[in-house]
Amino acid sequence: MKGTRKMLINQLQNLPSVVLFCSILLFLLVAMKELESLFSPHDIKLKGGPDFAGNDKSAIGFEWESALERTRETKPSGLISPPPPVATRHPLEVIYSTDYKFLLNEPNKCQEISPFLILLVITEPQHFSTRQAIRQMWGNESSVPGVSILRLFLTAVHPKFGYLLQALLEEESSIHRDIIQQDFLDTYNNLTLKTLMGMEWISKFCPNATYAVKADSDIFLNVNYMVSQLLQPHLPPKKNYMTGHIYRNAKPMRDKASKWYVPREVYPNETYPPYCVGPGYVFSGDLAMKIYQVAKTIKVINMEDVFMGICLYELGINMTNSPLGLFNPFKVKYEKCKFSKVVVVHHYGPEELLQIWPDFRDQSQTCKS
Ligand SMILES: *[C@@H]1O[C@H](CO)[C@@H](O)[C@H](O)[C@H]1NC(C)=O
Ligand SMILES: *[C@@H]1O[C@H](CO)[C@@H](O)[C@H](O)[C@H]1NC(C)=O
Ligand SMILES: *[C@@H]1O[C@H](CO)[C@@H](O)[C@H](O)[C@H]1NC(C)=O
Ligand SMILES: *[C@@H]1O[C@H](CO)[C@@H](O)[C@H](O)[C@H]1NC(C)=O
Ligand SMILES: *[C@@H]1O[C@H](CO)[C@@H](O)[C@H](O)[C@H]1NC(C)=O
Repeated sequence: MKGTRKMLINQLQNLPSVVLFCSILLFLLVAMKELESLFSPHDIKLKGGPDFAGNDKSAIGFEWESALERTRETKPSGLISPPPPVATRHPLEVIYSTDYKFLLNEPNKCQEISPFLILLVITEPQHFSTRQAIRQMWGNESSVPGVSILRLFLTAVHPKFGYLLQALLEEESSIHRDIIQQDFLDTYNNLTLKTLMGMEWISKFCPNATYAVKADSDIFLNVNYMVSQLLQPHLPPKKNYMTGHIYRNAKPMRDKASKWYVPREVYPNETYPPYCVGPGYVFSGDLAMKIYQVAKTIKVINMEDVFMGICLYELGINMTNSPLGLFNPFKVKYEKCKFSKVVVVHHYGPEELLQIWPDFRDQSQTCKS
């Protein structure tokens, strides 16, 4: 166990090799189907890794490709709930009529404790190394002394390799117990469903959480500063509270080529209600249940952050402004003292984050307050 962890940490120094490592794991999984009696997934994890680094990459690449080729027709149909009947539904309209089924769940996390803060981290099923990096950086549950933090990765089913990835996800989940997954397709236009899965989870399994943050996995997040500046554990918990970088009077993107395209059929109005931009926003635990319930009564749109704004509008709840500069939707160049006084900076992928993190965490130099 300890050895495995150490190995994973070593692997993280070099993300490209982790990607290769995961690809190889996947490939082995395919092979495993045929050699099931010879390996258990655990053996593969222990035997894999550094040993493979010296192998002939082109050969592995070739076999990997053909392994993928062979599984191309593997539909994740066994995992996925059939979509409700299509009447006159626009393809971008998000389907949220019934609850999706949990394929991975952690229903008992909050039986003993009421966490002060839940980190809901959006992740795609295949991004094993990203999750591992986040666990060791801002996802660390014990990073703020005296504050109980609960980390959960939210994921769904890979549109092509859902079945193949499931065994790996189950393995990872059994080690870390921090992944929840529902049976919808993990696509960009289904992102809203992931956020709603987080709201559903809090409503059903952790209604006593005081606050939660929805975080993308390509951000820098300063949990300590967020807790001390915004959430202030010594004060009574805020209710009906959501904050972040707020956009007001934003208009739907009607250009079909845009990543953020929202057709009139899905959202007819000319402007959106105020909303907190997606990479990272914070809300009080009581809002999770309210959002989860109101979402079932209105048309769900494919922009998850806008949709949270629509839910709050429907609930008659206003967003709360946050001090300027705490939530940065654009990239900001790393400087230790600047980053010690922000909450979110967008566009920090795991590789870059791993480079700045040791300096950020280093307590030896202090910043003027
Ligand atoms: C999490 O943070 C605590 C306290 O700073 C530290 O002792 C621990 O090693 C960290 N865990 C990981 C996985 O980095
Ligand atoms: C979202 O997931 C549902 C359920 O798996 C699926 O039927 C639908 O095609 C997905 N929508 C998009 C836009 O990917
Ligand atoms: C939530 O808190 C209330 C009041 O403190 C308590 O009665 C209830 O058992 C708690 N529920 C959970 C799920 O912890
Ligand atoms: C959209 O416009 C209609 C008609 O003006 C209005 O009643 C409704 O509240 C608006 N919805 C939102 C989410 O702004
Ligand atoms: C929300 O803000 C609007 C406009 O500033 C204000 O009229 C309204 O009373 C506020 N609602 C609540 C619940 O605070």
